[in-house]
Amino acid sequence: MGSERRTFLELLALYLFIQFSVTTANYFEPFNVTYDHRALIIDGKRRMLISAGIHYPRATPQMWPDLIAKAKEGGADVVDSYTFWNGHEPVRGQYNFEGRFDLVKFVRLVGDSGLYFLLRIGPYVCAEWNFGGFPVWLRDIPGIEFRTDNEPFKSEMQRYVTKIVDLLREEKLLSWQGGPIILLQIENEYGNMESSYGQRGKDYVKWAANMALGLRAGVPWVMCKQTDAPGEIIDTCNDYYCDGYKPNSPNKPTIWTENWDGWYTSWGGRWPHRPTEDLAFAVARFFQRGGSLMNYYMYFGGTNFGRTSGGPFYITSYDYDAPIDEYGLRSEPKWGHMKDLHAAIRLCEHALVAADSPQYIKLGPQQEAHVYWVNSSLSENQSTCSAFLANIDEHKAATVNFRGSSYSLPPWSVSILPDCRNTAFNTAKVGAQTSVKLIENALSPKRSMPELVMSKTEVSSFSESWMSVNEPIGIWSANNFTFQGMLEHLNVTKDESDYLWHMTRIYVSDEDIAFWEENQASPTIIIDSMRDVLRVFINGKLAGSVDGHWVKVVQPVQFPQGYSDLILLSQTVGLQNYGAFLEKDGAGFKGQIKLTGFKNGDIDLSKASWTYQVGLKGEVQKIFTIEENEKARWTELKPDAAPSIFTWYKAYFDAPEGTEPVALDLGSMGKGQAWVNGHHIGRYWNLVAPKDGCPQTCDYRGAYHSEKCMTNCGKPTQSWYHVPRSWLQASNNLLVIFEETGGNPFDISVKSRVSGILCAQVSESHYPPLRQWLNPDVIDGKVSIKDMGPEIHLQCEDGHIISSIEFASYGTPRGGCQNFSQGNCHSPNSLSVVSKACVGRNSCFVEVSNSGFQGDPCRRVVKTLAIQARCVSSSTVGVSQF
Ligand SMILES: *[C@@H]1O[C@H](CO)[C@@H](O)[C@H](O)[C@H]1NC(C)=O
Ligand SMILES: *[C@@H]1O[C@H](CO)[C@@H](O)[C@H](O)[C@H]1NC(C)=O
Ligand SMILES: *[C@@H]1O[C@H](CO)[C@@H](O)[C@H](O)[C@H]1NC(C)=O
Ligand SMILES: *[C@@H]1O[C@H](CO)[C@@H](O)[C@H](O)[C@H]1NC(C)=O
Ligand SMILES: *[C@@H]1O[C@H](CO)[C@@H](O)[C@H](O)[C@H]1NC(C)=O
Ligand SMILES: *[C@@H]1O[C@H](CO)[C@@H](O)[C@H](O)[C@H]1NC(C)=O
Repeated sequence: MGSERRTFLELLALYLFIQFSVTTANYFEPFNVTYDHRALIIDGKRRMLISAGIHYPRATPQMWPDLIAKAKEGGADVVDSYTFWNGHEPVRGQYNFEGRFDLVKFVRLVGDSGLYFLLRIGPYVCAEWNFGGFPVWLRDIPGIEFRTDNEPFKSEMQRYVTKIVDLLREEKLLSWQGGPIILLQIENEYGNMESSYGQRGKDYVKWAANMALGLRAGVPWVMCKQTDAPGEIIDTCNDYYCDGYKPNSPNKPTIWTENWDGWYTSWGGRWPHRPTEDLAFAVARFFQRGGSLMNYYMYFGGTNFGRTSGGPFYITSYDYDAPIDEYGLRSEPKWGHMKDLHAAIRLCEHALVAADSPQYIKLGPQQEAHVYWVNSSLSENQSTCSAFLANIDEHKAATVNFRGSSYSLPPWSVSILPDCRNTAFNTAKVGAQTSVKLIENALSPKRSMPELVMSKTEVSSFSESWMSVNEPIGIWSANNFTFQGMLEHLNVTKDESDYLWHMTRIYVSDEDIAFWEENQASPTIIIDSMRDVLRVFINGKLAGSVDGHWVKVVQPVQFPQGYSDLILLSQTVGLQNYGAFLEKDGAGFKGQIKLTGFKNGDIDLSKASWTYQVGLKGEVQKIFTIEENEKARWTELKPDAAPSIFTWYKAYFDAPEGTEPVALDLGSMGKGQAWVNGHHIGRYWNLVAPKDGCPQTCDYRGAYHSEKCMTNCGKPTQSWYHVPRSWLQASNNLLVIFEETGGNPFDISVKSRVSGILCAQVSESHYPPLRQWLNPDVIDGKVSIKDMGPEIHLQCEDGHIISSIEFASYGTPRGGCQNFSQGNCHSPNSLSVVSKACVGRNSCFVEVSNSGFQGDPCRRVVKTLAIQARCVSSSTVGVSQF
């Protein structure tokens, strides 16, 4: 016991030191950041770091403190974000660092909570963000070519990056000033594009690196997906798995800037989910094989408010299946399982940083150990040792022998042994709770697919009446202009609106009419290439709609005899954010536009005289704001009114009581945009995902890809739209909707999102909880870690408490969350033990052992404890919300 005892004391000291230094420092003493081949060296010490990706403009400043607190509670050491150039410099030379774009405030909040910051300046960021973060005005700079050895581009990029670094320095946000920033990034995933630019691409990489270093920010820089990152710039990995990644110099540490813990989706798409066990496996493998800093992309994905979402066709939600969901709630069991994983890695940190490299031991055909082991110069018994045992077999569990003991490893899993002896964590054994959104069967490697559930309470708090006003079809103001020929969409709109009207006049003769009747034909509009949405109107009537990403348009139309107005409305749904030559991608139409089928041949519309109008009348008049909405001629809408296209609607509603996040259910609408009290909620579009491609269950085993575990087949991709609480007042909130295709506003509702039900299921053979590693009895050697029972931890959202235990069985319970039933073995004390420990509390622990349940309900049977609990808001206890 003597040797173990000392090991545990050391572990405890280290753990407490780290906890203490992280939890109590509300500011930092100035410190330097350097690195060696093993890790970042922070204030002279190597560190193993967990980073949480949170993009500040995808939440509100009011949400930031809670998101940061949840990242910290979840075990993060670092918060990571891109910067968003088009948000920070909407007009060239006019900067915006306010509201959701208050970068300084966000970085300060992170520092105040004792976490470090990784700022990925870009300025190209991809991020499924409009135009990859580039301001659209950048296209208008003469001679510009993005992301290559091009003077106009380099000069603008340098100006922006310098602006940001100067800001960080002025605000004392860099580590050597006592700020939280330990790492900066220049460019982003340029390695994927570099070959498209030839030698000029290579020169650009060198220039970008030198430019960044020349700013003398005093912290290291990274370039991700950039194998030729020059000099001291660290090349880093972005992928689903980055174990085995080797930077381009033996003097650089292994850093994972983007661990894709989920994926994004587009309108009409399914929802991707990355299994929790596989995500934990990827992280554990990374640290097992020598990794030193891993960032979750995303830890919180959030919302693409307004028109910030990128393209083609990315939806307003950026939930990303991240550990914190779009609304800021923990997504379980992902959040909890990763928290346990981080704690296990933390217990190993002293060994991970002490060893220069792991010792590799082959344990079986697909089983291996990496041992981080350093002998003390004083005594062999003071050795520091942590080990990772991996079973990379995708199908079968394995039992391995390691240092004289036997360990069973589930398929596709890693066990973490902080003392090279006891298992503190296995990536495939989820002990964390499941929330109502997830249904789990812990006994099978296959997990039921999670389902999003909103509160069942529909808050029918809308004002009785809806008002409406029609948006004019076509040219509506003196702000129109006429041009001979077809202009490029973004050249005209400057992306100030999604919408660009084009109108021309077509003459149809008697001969044409006779010709069409004779041939039973009609004229057709043919456009070589179009993105994202086109609507064709003839004399004010909708004649057809097309959507797609650079698709050919073949749209039959009908004209009466005489002159007709032909209107083409081209629309963007998020500008391209990925690919080479973004400045040339543009929007609207490419190539030739013609009208075919006329008696005297085709009409070339590319050369016709077109009258242009940018945007919608209601948009330009800002009728969605509290101040301006009365300017429109609203009329009361009858409940039986037929759906109408191109219509503005407004109504007032009361906010749901409480503090839970709020969503608008726009499932009854077609396509458009929504505003609450003048805040732009985002685009909405009621497109339905394909019927197939969603498995019944998701097998976590084997390499993940974004198509692997889809849900939501046959359902609208997005019906709920987040309305941040801070944008609401208690009553009389103004909701304004612009609807393009026709919907029923009377069916719009407001809902609040709650994690109402928690479930957890842990077997007595599960490893003991990590917090028992810190139990004084263990440290004093009175109890061996192996003698201690595992436990279940339940935790409601903040401000909520467990109101009742709906199911508890210690024995052999069957079923899964919301479907548990007692098996043949059941302890009669189950409900009373669990209720006593949990009811009335925000969180509770229940030990899974015979002693915890006052006796063994059935000998020689491996017992499991299953619990289903209900959380309610602590302010409304006694009042059922459901
Ligand atoms: C950081 O490094 C610089 C340059 O080597 C040195 O002058 C400074 O004292 C260091 N700061 C701290 C806090 O160690
Ligand atoms: C630690 O010491 C033991 C016993 O002296 C030796 O067998 C082992 O190789 C050493 N390990 C390392 C990593 O130096
Ligand atoms: C180290 O520990 C082992 C067993 O735990 C013991 O037999 C041995 O005497 C110890 N050696 C020293 C130098 O303390
Ligand atoms: C279009 O612009 C012209 C010139 O400014 C103006 O005379 C005309 O009234 C405008 N059209 C509409 C529908 O406002
Ligand atoms: C957009 O306008 C610029 C001039 O401002 C012109 O050079 C460019 O060719 C235009 N793009 C397209 C696709 O027409
Ligand atoms: C509930 O579990 C039982 C078996 O315990 C199963 O037969 C039944 O289909 C399950 N029901 C649901 C809704 O999952």
